[in-house]
Amino acid sequence: MILPFDKVKEDLLSLREHVAHFDDGLEISTDKHDVWSIKKLLILRYYVPDFLKIIRKYDYETIHYVDLFAGSGFIKIKEKLIPGTPLVPLLTSKEIVTDNNKLFFDQYHLADVNGKYVEALTSRVNTLNVGLHTHITVEQQDFQTSVDEIFPKSPSSWNERKKNAYLVMLDPYGFDVTWEHLSKILKSGAVDVIIYFPTRMISWNQLKDQSAEKLTKMYGNNDWVTFSSEDEFVERYCENIQKISVAWKPMKTKTFEVNAGKTKYHLICVSRSNGALNIFSDMKTLFDSVNVKLLESVFDTSVLSKPGLDGFF
Ligand SMILES: C[S@@+](CC[C@H](N)C(=O)[O-])C[C@H]1O[C@@H](n2cnc3c(N)ncnc32)[C@H](O)[C@@H]1O
Repeated sequence: MILPFDKVKEDLLSLREHVAHFDDGLEISTDKHDVWSIKKLLILRYYVPDFLKIIRKYDYETIHYVDLFAGSGFIKIKEKLIPGTPLVPLLTSKEIVTDNNKLFFDQYHLADVNGKYVEALTSRVNTLNVGLHTHITVEQQDFQTSVDEIFPKSPSSWNERKKNAYLVMLDPYGFDVTWEHLSKILKSGAVDVIIYFPTRMISWNQLKDQSAEKLTKMYGNNDWVTFSSEDEFVERYCENIQKISVAWKPMKTKTFEVNAGKTKYHLICVSRSNGALNIFSDMKTLFDSVNVKLLESVFDTSVLSKPGLDGFF
């Protein structure tokens, strides 16, 4: 049985290896990240191979990766570059693809409102997308416009069910994911979604008048006014996702927590597929004990304190 420490170390070093030839000091990186960000990257990385295997097995015509708060492609932790969510699936699929298994995404949709990040990201994906058959678009635009462009206007019909499959990463800083647009994504057929949910920040805003409208748009109603604990914010959000009326099976959720003092977030993994839900359960076994202390210790002993690591790669 693989131990969480070893798994984190192996995956973190693999991610770092892909970008170690970029200059840590000079490259643009997406701000507001730290050691705690690693867990969201590892969970995404863990899920990608199984997602691709399941979806290819069921013969979907087009497999999409959608990341609409993509950032620049790099985050910086303790002055070291690490690939962010828009690069993780691409790099992970590069590690597992062969001529016969087709374990890559056909379409890759990346977007962000920040022009400087979009420019850096475009150059990075073009550099790193070597040897794959992934068609990548990078747009400078806001989340809502991107959703309206990428997802069909009406829920997919049963006849169209084998056309498109999506893995969607939603990684905002705050409450930019509106309920209207999240529902639209979740009603679009074979869709799995990983949501970064900044639990502490959201609950902290409960008493701020200037945040009321945004919270109501995020929840789709004003029930949040009555929530009595931090965890209720995430639990009720997940319950609402499970109640979204969809043509086929209802959505289910699994959550992963990171508590780093000022920052506490949950990653909410959403799917209606039993196969996906089994994988989320395996992920819980492996990642539930991965806290900030463990991430810090792995980062310091593997990425940070190995002189010559970059040269080695
Ligand atoms: C948490 S960061 C994303 C980090 C990235 N996913 C990663 O792992 O490297 C959030 C990003 O959302 C972008 N952003 C903020 N508001 C947005 C909006 N309404 N639509 C799209 N992007 C937005 C910011 O410019 C920022 O790059």
